Parts: sequence; C-alpha cells; structure tokens
Amino acid sequence: MTSTTPLIEPGRFPAGRLAFPHAHLTGIGHLERHEILFLLAAAEEWVKLNREGEKRREILAGRTIINAFFENSTRTLLSFEIAGKRLGADVVNMAAATSSLKKGETLLDTAITLSAMRPDAIVIRHGSSGAPQLIAQKVDCPVVNAGDGSHEHPTQGLLDALALREALKRRGDASEDFTGLTVTICGDILHSRVARSNILCLQAMGASVRLCAPPALMPAGIEAMGVEPFYDFDAALDGVDVVMMLRLQTERMAGRFIPSAREYHHLYGLTRSRLANAASHALVMHPGPMNRGVEIDSEVADMIDRSIITQQVEMGVAIRMACLDVLTRERRGVEGWS
Ligand code: CP
Repeated sequence: MTSTTPLIEPGRFPAGRLAFPHAHLTGIGHLERHEILFLLAAAEEWVKLNREGEKRREILAGRTIINAFFENSTRTLLSFEIAGKRLGADVVNMAAATSSLKKGETLLDTAITLSAMRPDAIVIRHGSSGAPQLIAQKVDCPVVNAGDGSHEHPTQGLLDALALREALKRRGDASEDFTGLTVTICGDILHSRVARSNILCLQAMGASVRLCAPPALMPAGIEAMGVEPFYDFDAALDGVDVVMMLRLQTERMAGRFIPSAREYHHLYGLTRSRLANAASHALVMHPGPMNRGVEIDSEVADMIDRSIITQQVEMGVAIRMACLDVLTRERRGVEGWS
C-alpha cells in the first residue's frame, strides 16, 4: 500500500476529496451519511492490518501528530498514539498537566504554539465544548476532536458504529447500515458527548434511538434530535436490539444529580434480569471507562455472546487510523485529494 493507493473501491463513494471534503473532524453533526460510511469502510482495511503480525504501514512516515489531551483518557489517547505509529508517523503526546497552561497561557496561544511546530495533525481533548473548533480556525493542519466537554466525541461515535456493524456481520447480517435497528442509550445523557455523537451517527445510519436517564440527567428538549426519551429503564429496553450504557460523569456534575450510586443501580443499572427485557439477541455496548456495579453489572459487561465492549476498543484504533489517513491525504498529495 502506498500513499497514492486508494483504500476504497471506486464507485462506492464520491471520488477523491468529495468522499470526505472536510479539513477537520470536529463532530459527527457535520458529516453526511456517505462520509460516515466512507470512514467506516476505510477503517475496515485497518482492522485487517491490526490483526496481522506486522502492523505497520508507512503512509504517514515523516509526518508529525500532536496529541493534546487536556482531560484524562486511557482508550482515546492510547489508540490515537497507536494509530499514528502504525501509520508510520512521529507521535508526540503533550502532557497538559505539566504544560505552560499551568503558567497562565491561553488555549489559543497554546494552539498557535503547537501549530508553529508544523505538525501534520493535532488531536485534541478538552473540557470545554467547542475548543477543537476554535483551535481548527487558528492552526494550519487538520484538527481531530477527541472529546470536547459535553458536546461531541466523533471518533467514539464512529468506532461504536464500526464495532456494531462488525458484530452484526459476525451474526450473518451483512447490511451496510442500521436500518430497522433500535438502540437504547442509558445513563448520564446530560453530560455525555458520547451520547450526542452516537445519536447523530446511529441516526445517520438508519437506527432508531431511545434515551433513558433519570429526569435530572436528561437534557431538556432532547426530542428535537429525533430520539425517544424514557425515564423507566425496563420500558426503554423493551425489545431493543442494542443497549449502550454510559457512566455517571461526576466530574461534570455541580451538586447532586442522583440520591446515591446504589439507588441509581437499582433504577438504571444493567443487570442480567433487566437485559431480558431487550430482544434475545440484543448486544451490549459501553464506551468505557465502566463503573461496574453502578451502571452495569460485571456478569453483563463480560457476557461473551452479548457484550462487544472489548471489540469497541479494538475498533477505536482502526477508526483513528482511518481518520488520520483521510484527513492528511490532501497534504500528502494523494491522487484526487488535493
Ligand atoms: N471512551 C473514552 O473516551 O475513553 P477514555 O476517556 O479512556 O479515552
């Protein structure tokens, strides 16, 4: 595979740059259905590579990627680092905790400083909604949103879609999209960028989305997104094909939103008996990190025939490889992308 080899067979998507005309990936909300499918198809190629012994391709050799994470991360940071390295790039992780932000430097000055080092992509996670979009306006390279406040986590939405599609494929469903599927997302919807990106991605791919949360953790007016809100978890699970559980984001909560973790688990925790309300084939997802015994029981999280939580992590590397590849094609002079 060379930097000029198209990854996708011709005719399936618009050609070249038209397949993904965006300079940055700041949210799923900006993407068309065919652009999502294009990224998923690109990632499928990287899933194959990642399962081989020799996992390196040099398409980003000589390129530099900066991971600037201003919030904690295990999965996203590591998988972006692995993704960049598997593509042959030099990957630098900025340690936000020991950066000059602590000396009062603004986010924009930090972004301009990073840009002056001429990276080929900047991956940013930040606690403020809109921070990656702001930075994208100030730098000369693609910016990837690795999670901004309660707004979006686009690569999580994409990797969840890929993991779900792969799981359905393993069961013999070769559909490219999720038409006819009903997904329940349950947990702290109010603070969840994962929920937002997943709602947008699942709907773009044809799924119906139900949301379930305690009233205090359900955003007002969420119906405008075309979802069905529930406050009773058993009703929300009735007959669904997929259950996606979210943790309580206590770090974003000012004050008490739930009486206790014990009571939350009683009402909104996914237990084996509660899962029986869903379709008998229902798959279980969780973006991590999990709080076992709060939003999900271990015996559900670890069900080998139903839980695809580990596969979600695996797909994260492939999706991030696809995003770094596609977003840097123009500057790499890939045919049809300039
Ligand atoms: N799902 C997710 O974003 O996990 P991390 O916070 O560990 O990156």
